[in-house]
Amino acid sequence: MRVYRRLFDAVLTRTDAETAHRLGLGAMRAAARVPGLAAAGRRRTCPPDAALEVEALGLRFPSPLGIAAGFDKNAKGVDALVGLGFGFVEVGTVTAQPQPGSPRPRLFRLPADRAVVNRMGFNNDGAEAVAQRLAQRLAQRRTPGQPVVVGVNIGRTKVVPTAAAVSDYEASTRLLAPHADYLVVNVSSPNTPALRDLQAVEPLRALLTAVRAQADAVTEDRVPLLVKIAPDLSDTDVLAVADLAVELGVDGIVAVNTTIGREGLRSDPAHVAAVGPGGLSGQPLRQRSLQVLRLLRERAGDRLTLISVGGVWTAEDVHERLRTGADLVQAYTAFVYEGPSWPARTNRELAALRTGSPR
Ligand code: FNR
Repeated sequence: MRVYRRLFDAVLTRTDAETAHRLGLGAMRAAARVPGLAAAGRRRTCPPDAALEVEALGLRFPSPLGIAAGFDKNAKGVDALVGLGFGFVEVGTVTAQPQPGSPRPRLFRLPADRAVVNRMGFNNDGAEAVAQRLAQRLAQRRTPGQPVVVGVNIGRTKVVPTAAAVSDYEASTRLLAPHADYLVVNVSSPNTPALRDLQAVEPLRALLTAVRAQADAVTEDRVPLLVKIAPDLSDTDVLAVADLAVELGVDGIVAVNTTIGREGLRSDPAHVAAVGPGGLSGQPLRQRSLQVLRLLRERAGDRLTLISVGGVWTAEDVHERLRTGADLVQAYTAFVYEGPSWPARTNRELAALRTGSPR
């Protein structure tokens, strides 16, 4: 693991952010395929301490800490990520049609803020290819072992006009719901024009109703359905989404996606301006993410499963989210900064916090 960490650190610090990400994911997948390394990794990280086990969405999670959408867009690294200690993996965002995403550069670090700005624009292989990959993975894994929870996050294809968004999401659902332990309707990424307009109650009602019906049509077991929201919604709009989710029998909410805001940053404003538009993630999201979680839990009581994401960095952060009402917690940016030992370390520290034992 130490060699792995050094390799990761070296590529992370010497290459541009997106290349580092691609190489990091490649190294992780390669390591997961080397039997000795994979077994050693599992002994240290998996299964996480039994004290961390969580039941949510009718599923069993070995740890409440998962990797957020966007890291494994194409479902190529599920087992490697679980091998590092994540309790679940949300793959995607996947769109109905394959697409290249925005021109590069499109991923930037703001180290002074422990933050990242991205305008990836849903670069992904498309629903058909990802569905095939997930099916293949399951077929190869039909041996006894830890079941791995894989959520699938779906979004709108960029070239599809907003007016045709529902059928685009339906197409993704048709292909992907059969391979998903849970499905997330992403209406909150800032890098697909007009995507976030789908968070308004009436378009969202139509979209969630259609996706639910399509998922039910292609699966025997009911796939849990969640919606992922932006931190930039007003509190009133957050509550309106919560009410709608309860009314429609949606299973839960993933809160929150990246923000288009740039307030309160420590980074040089000229650098922030030079980076340009995109979604900001990491520590600057922490307070708003907590606020949204509080609002949602107060409003929905126990009628929604809440996945809290945004600025989670330490075991204390995970613990705080759980105490504030999250059923599950996700992170992305902390993993990018802290490296591959982060999920296992956070699990160990979280287990100590939860059981009150020394680390
Ligand atoms: C993301 N995020 C994201 N979310 C989503 O629903 N679909 C996606 O495709 C992506 N892509 C993506 C790429 C990159 C480079 C980053 C940094 C983030 C958002 C992510 O899932 C999460 O909601 C936010 O990043 C907030 O969590 P952290 O990063 O502060 O832990």
